Amino acid sequence: MNVLVIGKGGREHSIVMKLAESKQVKKIFVAPGNAGMESIATLVPIQETENERLIAFAKEESVDLTIVGPENPLLNGIANEFTFEGLRIFAPNKEAALIEGSKSFAKSFMMKYDIPTANYQTFTDPTEAKLYIEKTGTPIVIKADGLAAGKGVVVAETKGIAFAAIDSMLVSKEFSEAGGKIVIEEFLAGDEFSLMAFVHGEHVYPMLPARDHKRAFDNDEGPNTGGMGAYAPVPDITNEILEYATKEILQKAASGLVAEGRSFTGVLYAGLIMTENGPKVIEFNARFGDPETQVVLPLLRNDLAQVILDVLEGKNPKLKWEQQSCLGVVLASEGYPSTYQSGVVVPEFDGDSFVVYAGVAKQGEKIVSNGGRVLVVGAKSNTLGEASSLVYSSLPPNEVLEGLFYRTDIGRQKLGALQ
Ligand code: AMP
Ligand code: GLY
Repeated sequence: MNVLVIGKGGREHSIVMKLAESKQVKKIFVAPGNAGMESIATLVPIQETENERLIAFAKEESVDLTIVGPENPLLNGIANEFTFEGLRIFAPNKEAALIEGSKSFAKSFMMKYDIPTANYQTFTDPTEAKLYIEKTGTPIVIKADGLAAGKGVVVAETKGIAFAAIDSMLVSKEFSEAGGKIVIEEFLAGDEFSLMAFVHGEHVYPMLPARDHKRAFDNDEGPNTGGMGAYAPVPDITNEILEYATKEILQKAASGLVAEGRSFTGVLYAGLIMTENGPKVIEFNARFGDPETQVVLPLLRNDLAQVILDVLEGKNPKLKWEQQSCLGVVLASEGYPSTYQSGVVVPEFDGDSFVVYAGVAKQGEKIVSNGGRVLVVGAKSNTLGEASSLVYSSLPPNEVLEGLFYRTDIGRQKLGALQ
């Protein structure tokens, strides 16, 4: 098979690495990809949302299967157009991807299908939004309705922060149309985890749970980011919780989307919070998570290409997982998630770890940084503690790492101090 992967981050590199293990995959193309993938895939200089050019390329190169990483192409109708052209693609169409593309749609959908989530209201009028907060009090969560590259959520501890968030979204239009409507929802307390599943219509095949670390700095301090590290599976999430989440959240969502005429094909991602009353949904994504994918796929024993073919044909892919833990730490550019410098030379890493590249480019023979999240250093081992030790022992200390930084506590909060 010839496979085309769409995207350029760590998630896509991880998908490419897994596909490279498959005996039935002959050629792997990635559009546009990044310089760190060059040794195992052919980079194609076409952007993620150039549907026509991607279709022409897929036809020219006899691509048998296309896999989409990021959300923008999904909402841009890539699956609709590939399918219309008779090209096989593992991704939801834009109608189904609305579960990620519109928070207000996702919330009303969850209410309709009785999927556990925080109570909420939607607003377009800032005065009404503020009146509502006068009534509910804080903490409270303000969310831009549309896609905002992970930046459209404000957890407001105080009324001042809540009002400022409302003004920036509804008055100054910080996220333009994506923030023209907002969702204000109840603050939920508890530990977060992510549960992804391969989905085709009513069929749902869950992966291992993972835990992302969204804040920039140790002890969950600092601004929200795209994710600074992750591990899988999640020791404090029991099988009972997973069964409940699969049945009451993922299965209800898949069936609900079918009932709405928005049948979902692809990876459905539930961002969950473990409350006193069980897991509740913070968000749905219509794709693989980043950096969750970088720690979940290394534990998958199946051939990923075969899994996707089976799922697309309505067959159970019979997922098998390593009885191990996988942990990954993101190295980000200093200054991320606000402004940062690119062009910093990326060091090599020793030890029993693997590297998944994201925001990188090539300068001569050297790999240099070219984005906020630059790479993930990860490792697998029999326990989470061992995986964490393997990763951290292959990283130079933050102090000597020029232009890059990482969190030193990924996976360590639940384990206690390991060193
Ligand atoms: P999102 O961009 O939707 O993943 O939200 C970013 C982060 O905001 C989440 O990872 C949570 O830490 C936090 N968050 C979102 N919604 C809630 C909520 N209802 N209660 C508490 N925290 C939330
Ligand atoms: N790790 C969160 C996301 O992929 O949206």
